[in-house]
Amino acid sequence: MIILFFISLITFANSLSLKSVLMAIDCGGQESFNSKEGFLYQEDQHFSGDSRVSDYTYNDVVYDGIAYTFTPKVYFTERHGSSFDYSLPINKNGQYTIILQFVELYFENEGERQFDIFIGTKRIIQNLSIIDNKHQKGSAKEVFIYIEIKEDKVFHNDEECTKGFINGKLKIGFRKGAADLPKVDGIVIVKGHNAGEEEKKHLIDNWEQMLEENRKKEAELQRAELEAQNMIVPDSVEPEEGEGLISFLLSPIGIGIIIFGMVVFGLLIFTGENEDDKKRKKNKSK
Ligand SMILES: *[C@@H]1O[C@H](CO)[C@@H](O)[C@H](O)[C@H]1NC(C)=O
Repeated sequence: MIILFFISLITFANSLSLKSVLMAIDCGGQESFNSKEGFLYQEDQHFSGDSRVSDYTYNDVVYDGIAYTFTPKVYFTERHGSSFDYSLPINKNGQYTIILQFVELYFENEGERQFDIFIGTKRIIQNLSIIDNKHQKGSAKEVFIYIEIKEDKVFHNDEECTKGFINGKLKIGFRKGAADLPKVDGIVIVKGHNAGEEEKKHLIDNWEQMLEENRKKEAELQRAELEAQNMIVPDSVEPEEGEGLISFLLSPIGIGIIIFGMVVFGLLIFTGENEDDKKRKKNKSK
C-alpha cells in the first residue's frame, strides 16, 4: 500500500502539491472524498444566498469522460443560482490562490451562460463563459485567482477587495452576468501563488496524450495491487535482478552456501583470536 501511495504521488507530481492545499469544497456534493492528487474535497458547505444544487449523476448525464481532469467526481454536482457566496475560513495572513472549478453540462455554445465573480464588492471577472475556445461542453475549466490576505484585508492585484475578508472568512461571490445563472462545481484554496496554472494549460494542450499515459499508469497500479494480493500470477516468469539474487539465497543451495560461509568466517575469527592470545601470552612472558 505504501509503495502504491508513492507511485500515485509520482504519477500526479506535476499537479497540485498536497501540502499546499488548504481547503477544497465539492460544490453541490453530499459527501467528502479524496481527489486524484490525494487532497480531501469536503462536502458542500460555507455557502449562502439564493442558490440550488444540481446533481448530474441522477439524470444519466454522467460524464465519466469529463475532459481535462482526473477527478471527474467534482464536476458531477454543482451549485447555481442568481446570486450566492462562499465564505471560507482562512486563519493566516499570506498569499493564496483560489481555484474555481467549472464544467458546462447544460449549454452547447460559448456565451449562453455568462456570469461574474466577486471577492467582497470587487468584481474580479466579468461575463465568464465556461465554454470558450479551449473548453467544450463537458470539459473541466479552472479559473485561477491570486490573492493576498494581510491585516484582516484581502488584496487582488494589490487592490483591496472591500468586504472580501470578514471575521476571518474569505467571501467569494457569484453574480448574474450577461446570460443565464452563475454556477460553480468546486473551490480549492491553495497556499502561495504556485498552484499549477501552467501545468493545467499543459494538461489541456496535451489531453489525449495525458489521458493515455494516465490509463497506462492506472492499469499498472491496478495490476500491482492485484499482484500484491496474489490475485493474479505475473506473466513474466523471469525474476527481476534483485529478486533473482534473493530467491537464490533462499534456495537450499543458497542457504548451504550461506551456512558454509558463516562456518568459514567463524573459524577464521576463532583462529585469529588464538593467534592474538598466543602473542599476548608471549608478550606477558617477556
Ligand atoms: C458583460 O455583460 C453586460 C451585460 O450584457 C455588458 O453590459 C458588459 O459590457 C459586459 N462586459 C464585458 C466585459 O463583456
